[in-house]
Amino acid sequence: MSNIAEKIAFTPERFAKAQEIIARYPEGKQKSALLPLLHLAQEQYGWVSEEVMDYVAGLLNILPIEVYEVATFYTMFHLEPVGNHVIEYCRTGPCCLMGGEDVYTHLKQKLGIDTGETTSDGKFTLKEVECLAACGWGPVFQIREKYYMNLTNQKVDEIIEELSK
Ligand code: FES
Repeated sequence: MSNIAEKIAFTPERFAKAQEIIARYPEGKQKSALLPLLHLAQEQYGWVSEEVMDYVAGLLNILPIEVYEVATFYTMFHLEPVGNHVIEYCRTGPCCLMGGEDVYTHLKQKLGIDTGETTSDGKFTLKEVECLAACGWGPVFQIREKYYMNLTNQKVDEIIEELSK
């Protein structure tokens, strides 16, 4: 473990929460707590670095690779530093058929960034994701747990302006 990794640690509150989550599973099945622990880690650090994944592996007594393979599979885990607001827009067919292409182009122009980039003020990061399971209300993007649906260019302007305050 590197020096950086040694500095990684949950806050006392999150550590207690992590222990509580781990205790929900039978002995030897602690890996089942991996997803909630990764969420806790991302909540604390804003993203999930290799050092953070190593720390989580240590808490669960599993191999780091077991954490990497899960964290890299799910798009909700950020593997690089991100802005305050991570906009995850649905690029899947139904949303695109309902005007998503135009709305997402507008969104990129409004922010002055492309997918995978963060605005220079550190406020917004754009991520492209697959279906967010809100196909009937597309185009749609998600910021944390909140969904923004039936998006139009005007709605995008309003949302960005509100979040920029
Ligand atoms: Fe966009 Fe399902 S296709 S939410």
